Amino acid sequence: MKLEEIKKKIKEVGEKAVKEISTISEGDTEKLERWKVKYLGRKGAVNDLFTSLSLLSSEERKEAGIQINALKNKLISAYEENKSKIESKREEKKVNLSFPGKPPETGAFHPITLISREITTIFIKMGFGVVTGPEIETDYYNFGALNIPDEHPSKDVWDTFYIAEKEKILLRTHTSPVQVRIMEKVSPPLRIITIGKCFRRDDIDATHSPVFHQIEGLMVDRGINFSHLKGILTHFIMEMFGNTVKVKFTPSFFPFTEPSAEVSMSCNICKGIGCSTCHNTGYIEVLGCGMVHPQVFRNVGYNPDEFTGFAFGMGIERLAIIKFGITDIRYFFQNDTRVIKQFN
Ligand code: PHE
Repeated sequence: MKLEEIKKKIKEVGEKAVKEISTISEGDTEKLERWKVKYLGRKGAVNDLFTSLSLLSSEERKEAGIQINALKNKLISAYEENKSKIESKREEKKVNLSFPGKPPETGAFHPITLISREITTIFIKMGFGVVTGPEIETDYYNFGALNIPDEHPSKDVWDTFYIAEKEKILLRTHTSPVQVRIMEKVSPPLRIITIGKCFRRDDIDATHSPVFHQIEGLMVDRGINFSHLKGILTHFIMEMFGNTVKVKFTPSFFPFTEPSAEVSMSCNICKGIGCSTCHNTGYIEVLGCGMVHPQVFRNVGYNPDEFTGFAFGMGIERLAIIKFGITDIRYFFQNDTRVIKQFN
């Protein structure tokens, strides 16, 4: 073979290879690798050219060799260039830096916590202190000291969770035992609230849960009367639900208060017209209250002739349901953050 022929061939191979690689679409690795084998492989076109050098004289071989090497380098860099394009395309797909970031998961306060804090703030402003008491109670603090007789139906094993029935240790059914505990320790005057979990053997439905929260209040001093009770609770409800709300006191019964009352407020959903939430009465019951029974004072060593006081207790879930328009008490305990995050 003559030098001229080989030179022509080098040119042809070069042109063909460049043309072919330019038609390989970006990302087509398979085609690119096939191209590499065809031109740069052991039995590829470039090596064929090197083989044909043996047909030339040593002078000519030198000249053609330089050209073939130049072609080889040109094709190698064409290959590298194409390959790096594919890789950077892949990188781009993996991390798209122009994408907006994922917002981090943030926590939220549970509606029960929110309501508890709101209630606490209102009472702290009126000079009440905040105390706590145990969730596991004795029969005496939960019932006896509160003037609840042994034959009272709430003491039944079907109503109360007994931990040790014989020893009469139970899960408190209300927060009222804290009244007794605090009065045993502190002499009047006294103004406290307490918040915590209570337990009753209720089946779970839209309005009942065996675990729920209550807030209890107690105020004792010389000369406290029902007007103080009315004033404090009316103010509380208006602070909580707005001062256009109407508050109603109806006679009721609790063994530890006399007289006793139930407090209702005009339904904030239908504004008192009547709806399913207020069972068409226009009013929703919010809490129980009354003047502390003289026997309770005697039980804790207070002189009922010298001191009077009032107490009240309410369910926090109930208040949260009214305030936030939550339709089912079970939402509070299902750990569904979509429910919980709405109210912050
Ligand atoms: N302890 C009562 C209940 O759980 C509520 C209450 C508290 C009533 C204080 C009067 C005074 O229903």
